[in-house]
Amino acid sequence: MKEVTASAPGKLMLFGDHAVVYGHPCIVTAVDQRITATVRKNGVDIFHLDAPDMGLSAYSRTLADLGKKGTPKAVCFIEHLYKRFLEKHPQQEGIVVTTRSDFSSQFGFGSSSAVTVAFAKALTTLYGVELTNHELFTLCYQAVIDVQGIGSGFDIAAAIWGGTLYYVAPAKTVNPLGGERFELPLAVGYTGIKADTPTLVRMVETQYQAEPERVGSIFADIHQIVDDAQQAIVAQDWQKVGQLMTKNQELLQQLNVSGVQLDELIQASVDSGSYGAKLSGAGGGDCMIAVAEPDRQKIESALEAAGGQVMHVKLHAEGVRIES
Ligand code: MEV
Repeated sequence: MKEVTASAPGKLMLFGDHAVVYGHPCIVTAVDQRITATVRKNGVDIFHLDAPDMGLSAYSRTLADLGKKGTPKAVCFIEHLYKRFLEKHPQQEGIVVTTRSDFSSQFGFGSSSAVTVAFAKALTTLYGVELTNHELFTLCYQAVIDVQGIGSGFDIAAAIWGGTLYYVAPAKTVNPLGGERFELPLAVGYTGIKADTPTLVRMVETQYQAEPERVGSIFADIHQIVDDAQQAIVAQDWQKVGQLMTKNQELLQQLNVSGVQLDELIQASVDSGSYGAKLSGAGGGDCMIAVAEPDRQKIESALEAAGGQVMHVKLHAEGVRIES
């Protein structure tokens, strides 16, 4: 096998943002904006990467230097994962990796998780290492923890399993919701602001340490919402799903992770009749989601009028797959 190409989808968090970092469940859906990674052996002890969509071209390192200081952000996850892989499966020669993205990393659709998973799948397939989804998860999640030190891995799970998942970290529970052709009637609005996920996660951590009871009780309420949302999604009760989104958003506001632009888009969608809306992910920026019922067009026009960029994405997308 000379070269392997794999692709993985992005993600959108539907319920349970932040609480999922502390052992509570969340619901995530895979977004069909894919990242593709191609891997081939190169005959020399060099790791070489071309990731033009992530602003990195002709990056190279000797195998002995993998994971050492100075790794650019765009390549961190891939490089750490490759280092871990070589610890388990030592090789004399390095690889050439090329990545291509359907989407910009600015939207918060999880480009680092998608590229990590696509790369891991292509790499392990190239070397004939067969992994179950859970084993692939462990390999990718380890790289995330090596680099970031914190994170629930929900984005890695979405990139691997695809579809819509009820998830408890780190992949302790991965329950697919809905059938293969499940439709989620959601509108997605981008705020125009790039969220800084690690900073927001640390901010919530600081709040939790300072006020364990208040924040713990918010997390417990979010947990209940996620459980109720799981049932409402399966029943396709979008009115209920919307009500639960709005409740989840109120709790996220109490964690101080929303933001002016997010609040404005959320308000605009609800004012135009949406059953409910919330931020998606860490907060501060990135995207919000709204139930696109009863009138998708009206809701999306309201989002645009409020300064949002409507993202026409397919949800419940297929998980990681080998392309060639
Ligand atoms: C960030 O997209 C979602 C958070 O819940 C963090 C995580 O789950 O790793 C805030």
